Amino acid sequence: MNKEFRKAIIAGNWKMNKTPAEAVELINAIKAELEGKDTSGCGIIACVPYVDIDAAVKAAAGSPIEIGAENCHWEKSGAYTGEISADMLVACGVNYVIIGHSERRQYFGETDVTVNKRVLAALEAGLKVILCVGELLEEREQGITAEIVSMQTKIALMGVTAEQMKNIIIAYEPVWAIGTGKTATADQADEVCGIIRNVVAGLYCDCVAKATTIQYGGSMNAKNCEELLGKENVDGGLIGGASLKAPDFATIINAAC
Ligand code: 13P
Repeated sequence: MNKEFRKAIIAGNWKMNKTPAEAVELINAIKAELEGKDTSGCGIIACVPYVDIDAAVKAAAGSPIEIGAENCHWEKSGAYTGEISADMLVACGVNYVIIGHSERRQYFGETDVTVNKRVLAALEAGLKVILCVGELLEEREQGITAEIVSMQTKIALMGVTAEQMKNIIIAYEPVWAIGTGKTATADQADEVCGIIRNVVAGLYCDCVAKATTIQYGGSMNAKNCEELLGKENVDGGLIGGASLKAPDFATIINAAC
């Protein structure tokens, strides 16, 4: 983390977990863990399933926790059964949205082009975006990690202005490290977050690149967070499993704050 230039952000991605009642319990438990702690040194976000948003927004009110969603559609409204628009999220009190998570890419046909459409729609609606990029295991083994994350980043950011980059967080999530317990080493995470920062510098300028929060995600937990967050280019974390355990999530937050 380099807090001189950019904000550290810890975000939980709850994925398909927790009913609204359980969401309230978890938010309350995180609040209790953070009670009396100075969390001004980092942003705290919980990205929750759509049906939990209302309950989570109410439970988090008055606390440092902001609520995000896990996806949104690119159209404002229309015949898109099962989808949710960015405007709908804003109307529910959501501030952030994850776009392009590898599980969306792997299981739901998300492409770099649809990721770009969603990013533009989310920004237009006034949401802040957590844009996910990351390589598959075979791509790392083929030595094309830099090419893959560069391509994903460039396509996702097509049409995004330098001004709008203030509302973009990028999460580097190597697919082979997600939910596997296999974490990238701190050096690997730092290297690829640095590659992404260089791509942003090329698209915009050094000043935008310096100011962009780039998180690491993939089996980050209470034990390995300090080492990962100790790296210059790792500005926080996007946390899956460990964000569902209040004490572990609080430990990660404390390491970033
Ligand atoms: P895990 O922390 O469970 O590996 O998940 C990471 C992730 O996908 C966050 O978006």
